[in-house]
Formats: sequence, C-alpha cells, structure tokens
Amino acid sequence: DIRAFKHRTAFHFQPDKDWMNDPNGPMYYQGYYHLFYQYNPVGAVWGNIVWGHTVSTDLVHWRHLEPALKGDQWYDIRGIWSGSATTLSDGTPVLLYTGWSEAYDQIQSMAIPVNKSDPLLRQWLKAPQNPMAVVPEGYNSSQFRDPTTAWQGPDGLWRLLVGANTGDGGTIGTALLFKSIDFQAWNFSHSLHSVPGTGMWECPDFYPVALSGTLLGADTSTHGPTVKHVLKISANDKLHDYYSVGSYITENDTFLPESVNLDAGIGLRYDYGKFYASKSFFDQAKRRRILFGWVNESDSQEANIQKGWASVMSIPRQVWLDNRTTTDLIQYPVEELNSLRGPEVSSENVTVWAGSFVKLDGIHGNQLDIEISFAMPNRSVGLQPPELLAESGQLLCNQRGAVGNTKIGPFGVYVLATDDFRELTAIYFHVLQSPGEGLKILVCSDQTQSSVAPNLDTASFGSFVRVYESDQYLTLRILVDHSIVETFVQGGRAVVTSRVYPELALDDAAHVYLFNNGTELVTVMSVRAWNMNSVQIIPFS
Ligand code: FRU
Repeated sequence: DIRAFKHRTAFHFQPDKDWMNDPNGPMYYQGYYHLFYQYNPVGAVWGNIVWGHTVSTDLVHWRHLEPALKGDQWYDIRGIWSGSATTLSDGTPVLLYTGWSEAYDQIQSMAIPVNKSDPLLRQWLKAPQNPMAVVPEGYNSSQFRDPTTAWQGPDGLWRLLVGANTGDGGTIGTALLFKSIDFQAWNFSHSLHSVPGTGMWECPDFYPVALSGTLLGADTSTHGPTVKHVLKISANDKLHDYYSVGSYITENDTFLPESVNLDAGIGLRYDYGKFYASKSFFDQAKRRRILFGWVNESDSQEANIQKGWASVMSIPRQVWLDNRTTTDLIQYPVEELNSLRGPEVSSENVTVWAGSFVKLDGIHGNQLDIEISFAMPNRSVGLQPPELLAESGQLLCNQRGAVGNTKIGPFGVYVLATDDFRELTAIYFHVLQSPGEGLKILVCSDQTQSSVAPNLDTASFGSFVRVYESDQYLTLRILVDHSIVETFVQGGRAVVTSRVYPELALDDAAHVYLFNNGTELVTVMSVRAWNMNSVQIIPFS
C-alpha cells in the first residue's frame, strides 16, 4: 500500500512496523547508544507491550534488535511498561520498568544484562529479587508507574521517582521517591513534589542542568550550587510534557521550582505540538543531555491499522539551561543529524512584500532541513487587540491562522506545499504588541491545509517564544520528514512538532515558499536548506 510507504519517515526512528509509544531507558554503553521503546509486536494499536530495542553509534543510524524485555512473570505478564536505565558505579547498566501484573497492578521491577561484555546488550535478566517496589499505602496501584533513572544523593543512597497521583479524584499529580542502599531493596520515602490540578504524572524525569558552560550536561547524580534541576512530568489528562526548573534540596529530598507559576504540569512545555512521555539521558561520551519524545499520529486508528504502523520518535535533542534565565531550557537537534544534509541551497536578503510569497528555488521534496532568519521586525508597528493576548498561544494560532493578518505577520514558510497551494504546512510568526507587557512573538505550526485527505486532526499548534531586546533575528529551523515537521524556534527556545499526511505535496510536487500575509514587508536575512539523506535502518537479525 503506497499510503503506508509515503508517510513513513526517512531519518526519524521508527520500528519496521506495528505500534510504538514512549522512549524507554536511553543510555550510552561501550560505544553504542541504546534506545528502548514501548512496542506492540503484533499490531498498529496499543497493547501487548514489550520493550523494543535499537542501537546506534551516532544517534542517527539505527540497528533494530530483538525486544529486550517481554512479560513473563506474575508481576509483568500483561506488559512491560515505561522505565529508565541507570548506570551503576561499576559500569553495569540496570533497566527499571513498570510491570503490569496478573492482577492488573502496576509494579516496579528491574533487569540486568546477561552478558556485560556484549556492547549490544541483547539479553536481559529480570532480577531474582523482583519486584523492587509495590505501591505505597494510600496510593492507587493502577496509577503508579514509570520509574526514573536513579541517582545518588550526598549520603550515597540511591534514589528514584515513580509517577502517581493522589487527592480527591486523583487530581494531584505527584512523584514518589524511593531509596535504596544497595540498588536491591527499595523503600518508599515520601513525595518529592506534587502539584494540585495536574492529574496523573506519567514518565517523570529528574535531572541536573549546568548553570554555566552552555552546552555541557551533567551526570544524573550531580547536585549542588553548579546546577539547577529539571522536573519533567507527562500530564496524562493533557498528553503534554511539562517541565519545571528549580532547586533540588538534598537535605529533605524536595524540589523547589524557581517560580510557582512555572511549576511542573502548569508552566513550560518541551514542545507545543505533539510530543509526549519523553525521556532524557546523560551521554557520557559527549557529556551532554539528550532527550527523546514520542510523537504519535494525527490520523485515525483505522488508518494506522491500514498502514500497519503508528508513531515515530522525535529527533534526539540536546537539552540545556538557557543561561539568560534560571527557568527555561533550550533544545536543539543533536549535531550528528547534520551528517545527513545534502548540498546546501541558500539565499540572502530576500524581501517578502506584504501579501506576497517567494518560492525557494533549487529545493523540493519531503526530506528537508531548513534554517531561516528573519530580520527583527520594527517593534513599534506591532498591533493586536488586547483581549486576545490573555489567551494561550495555541488558541491564538487556531483563531488567526496563516491568513488573518495582524500587520506584522503572519509571515514565515510553507513547506510540503503544492504550487497551487492546495496542500501546504505553514510555520509562521505573528508579532503582537501587548499593553503593559511589550512585544510578544507568537509562533504557529498550522496543519489546516496540510493534506486533502479526510479525517485528519489538523489543529494548529503554537506558543509564545522568548525574544530579547538584543535579538537581531527571528529564526526557525524546520525538519521535514514525510509525515513529521519539527520546528525549533529562536535556536531552540521553543519547539513545535506536528504530523502531516500530504497526498499531493510529494517529491517534485512538494515545494518551499517564504510568505508574508501581514501588511508590513518582511526581510529574510538568510535561508539555508538541505535535502536530507535517508537513513538506512538495519533490520533485526
Ligand atoms: C505513557 C504511558 C506510561 C506507561 C506506558 C504504557 O504514554 O501511559 O505511563 O508506562 O505509556 O505503554
């Protein structure tokens, strides 16, 4: 079926076929990056979950391996759910996961390599002392899952978090702290952090980010004055990944957000499009922190079944603290991705007049990497009715679309665009003036015209993005890979990922345009674009 084929990605990780959800246990071991993932080996819908396993030496080219963990014990017979990897001081990697038990309880267990000298770590042994943690009293055994990577506190004890909820109706999201002396016996201590109104916390992640030294990550056990800590949670009732930067108070094992308005589950998101149940790890080889997220489909379940697969993994992103703040992260595709770029096509100083568009010559297709910088618009002419400004970025994107103009904007790019504009995916800025707050930059990824096919979820995604007085440009880096469009804004201060299913904008018919539907001219300082080579994914053998 051509439909199954044309929307498969060329440089994002996907299993050969069938259903995938969360990334699990990413780690670096003896020259290989390992990535596990929630996988249904027998269908394109969720169910029968095992840990799929893939390895790479560069985070770009992946080799499929046989599943690492399958349910075969009373405590995990219904499925091997999400979890993490921890590297012990002697170098042994340990996988921590949630088992769905015979009695439908969620129970935490661990597995160790059968053969530590195999860098591919193909065989795993469930620890004889499993399960390592059952639900503490007062919590719900069907809302207790997804252990984090463990870290060591100043007292040398190991610690990890498990996602849960509590309170009336389970509306208080919480991360439960467990401790261990020997990584064998684990005891519940207390809730490290909880936030009312945020619901069940899935897939918590807790890690340090360096306060200075830009791109450097920090090993998960690092604490003290040189780092802040990130608490990320996946809010089950919104299906978004929220993060909060704060202090990890080691004296009593609590988390104190930098700002109460930016607490976990209510503040900042990794991605303002589709991106969920993400997981980070510290890459010892390049001393950086890397993040993977699950990007699900915007097509119907029937369509998934028909095409025989569902979900893709985000491009691995390096993540670090924006040192101009103590609250905001930056995410950017790992540098290794650039190795897939073909010849560069570029232009400079392109004027895009009000109400016009400019086609980019010399580039087309469904596998692209595009970097664009727009001259910062004249800040004094931005105009916006004040009542709209209270609303969220996403709502504004949906209300205004790529057409309704606000003077400065919408301006941006059409990718996957046919020349008659029957299909196009629009990524654009609006520059808005907010009384009292000054300038606001809205970025949108608009899927409303992305395909002529019926029954797709084509909601627009978007967000406000931080811009400083000293910023000279508004920038976009857009990765287009058949059915996924990942946009990194202002060098990664905001990210918006979407899924699209073009029927007409394919190969020679898929073009790139700069456009400006505002009433003021826009100058594109530079645009650089590359066709991206396909990654050959080596099948399981
Ligand atoms: C998140 C999640 C996790 C769970 C897994 C099951 O998408 O619901 O909480 O462990 O997926 O597949």
